[in-house]
This record gives sequence, C-alpha cells and structure tokens, in this order.
Amino acid sequence: MSDARNRVIVSCAGDAFAGTAADMLADMARSAVRERGRCFIALSGGTTPEPVYRRLRDGEMIGSFPWEETDFFLSDERDVPRDHPESNYAMIRRSLFPGKTAPPGNLHGVPEDGDRNERAAAYGRELPGAVDLLLLGIGTDGHTASLFPGSPALIEKERRFVAVKTDADPPWRFTITPPVIRSARRVVVLARGKNKANKVAEVLSPETTTERVPARLARRGWWLLDEPAAADLPPLLTEGNER
Ligand code: 6PG
Repeated sequence: MSDARNRVIVSCAGDAFAGTAADMLADMARSAVRERGRCFIALSGGTTPEPVYRRLRDGEMIGSFPWEETDFFLSDERDVPRDHPESNYAMIRRSLFPGKTAPPGNLHGVPEDGDRNERAAAYGRELPGAVDLLLLGIGTDGHTASLFPGSPALIEKERRFVAVKTDADPPWRFTITPPVIRSARRVVVLARGKNKANKVAEVLSPETTTERVPARLARRGWWLLDEPAAADLPPLLTEGNER
C-alpha cells in the first residue's frame, strides 16, 4: 500500500454502491453528533452522489440519519441561480429534501447576489472551521470539487472558498480550497466507472502531484469505488474489502 492512511473500499457495482455509501455517510454523521452534538457536512455535486442522497432521504440505510442535528454545505457550486438545472444546490435540495416548498434552514447555499469574490468570501466565513464530513468525487481529469488541474486555487492557503474560472460548462464556479479538505475530520470520495480508473490509481500512487491530479488532496480519505473504478489499482490495495 502506498500510504497507510488510504482506506480503499471496493464495492460491487450496481445498487450496492449507493447503499454502501449511504450507510457510511449516515454512520459518520451519527458519530459526529455523538462526539460534538452536531454534524457539519459539505456535499459534492455530480452524478455519482445523487442516488446516494436519495437513499439517505428514503431512509434506506442502516440506522437513521441525524437530520435535525446536521448542517449541509456545498463543496462546490456553479455560478448559476439556485433553481438552475446545473446548480448543485438544486440537485441536493431535490434529492435530499423533496417536496419541501420552503428551502430547508439547514441547507446552506452559496449567496446568489453580488460580486462573485464577495459571495465566495461570505460562504467561506459561513463554513465551519473544520467540517465533520466532506463528500467528494473525482472527475476523469482528476479534479475534485471544482479544483481542476493547474488551478490557482490549488495553492490557496488562506481563503476557504473561492470563485474560479474553469474550462468546464458553466465556466464560473465556486469551490472549497485545500485548507478545507485538509482540516475536514472525515473525507469520503465516491468514484464509479472505468473512465475514473486511471485517475483513481494515480491519486493513490505516490508518483503524482496535486497540481496534476487535484483529487490527491483527498488521498487520506475513504475511497468508495466500484469494481471498474478500482480496476487499475495495484492488487495490494484492492485485496479484501477494506484497507
Ligand atoms: C461537481 C463536483 C465534481 C464531481 C466530479 C465527479 O459539482 O460536478 O463536485 O467535482 O464530484 O466531477 O462527477 P460525477 O459524479 O458526475 O462523475
């Protein structure tokens, strides 16, 4: 194993993935509430977590989720209105809090009005000093949250949430910075599919940099992979169910 702190779990494909992820998140959220009375979570967008959020919402996991004691933040957001189809806030609200007409008070979105940098700074102040649970994904280019390869945000040391122009669509995004990832009490990364396999292997190998593969910032976290996403890992990392 390249790093004793990596905890790689290889799940089976299909429905077991969302269920395993939901069990893990609910368990970690309950632990945070037990330890500190409240759980502060930062959630990612993307297609991988959406079915996981629906499992949580439907209560399809082992043990209950501490809804009343949890505050939900975003690890990144696109610079679009909160009801826009590309908005992570919209996806999270729809999948975790369906049918609620008023926005849930414990779901914290990025401010919508004003100067982009001021909105990012305001959200950075709203984020807790250390999130209890940070849920991330990895893109096929190795990005995580909206920290893309070569982004100036990767060397940010002070600010916790910044606006960044990317080559993605839509280009302007907001993202947590490396200090937020480093200070998170628990980090979980979800990855599915063969097209993620080589970047996942690169992250977990010692031979790369965060500038090239930003998801490396999360290498100490729990990596929940389906079999195709784990396909390029060395055997030592994938033997057994948990490292
Ligand atoms: C986003 C993300 C982003 C995502 C990866 C993986 O808002 O898009 O936070 O970092 O986690 O791009 O996305 P998929 O789950 O869709 O593969």
